[in-house]
Amino acid sequence: MKDNIVTHHYQVTINDRRKANNQNSFLMWFTGLSGSGKSTIANVVEQRLQKKGIKTYTLDGDNIRKGINKDLTFSPEDRTENIRRIAEVSNLMIDAGLVVLAAFVSPYKKDRDNIKSIVKDVNFVEIYINTSVEECERRDVKGLYKKARAGEIKNMTGITAPYEAPEHPEIEIKTEQETVEEAVEKILKFIEPILKYKNE
Ligand code: ADX
Repeated sequence: MKDNIVTHHYQVTINDRRKANNQNSFLMWFTGLSGSGKSTIANVVEQRLQKKGIKTYTLDGDNIRKGINKDLTFSPEDRTENIRRIAEVSNLMIDAGLVVLAAFVSPYKKDRDNIKSIVKDVNFVEIYINTSVEECERRDVKGLYKKARAGEIKNMTGITAPYEAPEHPEIEIKTEQETVEEAVEKILKFIEPILKYKNE
């Protein structure tokens, strides 16, 4: 079937859309354990970008799994498919000229490498929200760790399923040592030079 599909090339390009938006477009990928602070930090970063007039969109595991990915479980195969679909959606949004923020546990290194190849290296900023499992379990904002310990949730990342920490993330935030505001400043400082539109 896919042998019979031929890419159609449109005249309006990614460069045209970036130019029209007067900004670059790329993906900021937040990875870390459940409850590590990914969504909290992404949320503040997005607000700050909006204030600067940057057009953004945030994709979040908890929301996406209620819609486009509601057919997926937390098995290793389904997590891989979850991340693949989000990478493809992010790629479309990059093409549309947006700065995309994505907050997903994304525990497997190979899945995160796959995102990079889908959206291309230059469009990918990996942000590791490094919070220990002990601290996430202590916070237990959603009560999921308690349920996992009671055996009510299978494949809980950090408890009964692995988390492969990034080895060379562009940005690492240690939430047990840095405040949300410090984390946001660090991220904004990193992306400042790549936010501007550059004619290609
Ligand atoms: S991922 O591993 O496939 O990237 P994703 O980010 O979409 O995960 O979803 C994670 C969210 O689902 C967590 O923030 C948590 O609220 C919820 N969740 C429910 N069950 C699990 C589980 N077994 N492991 C991790 N997160 C879970």
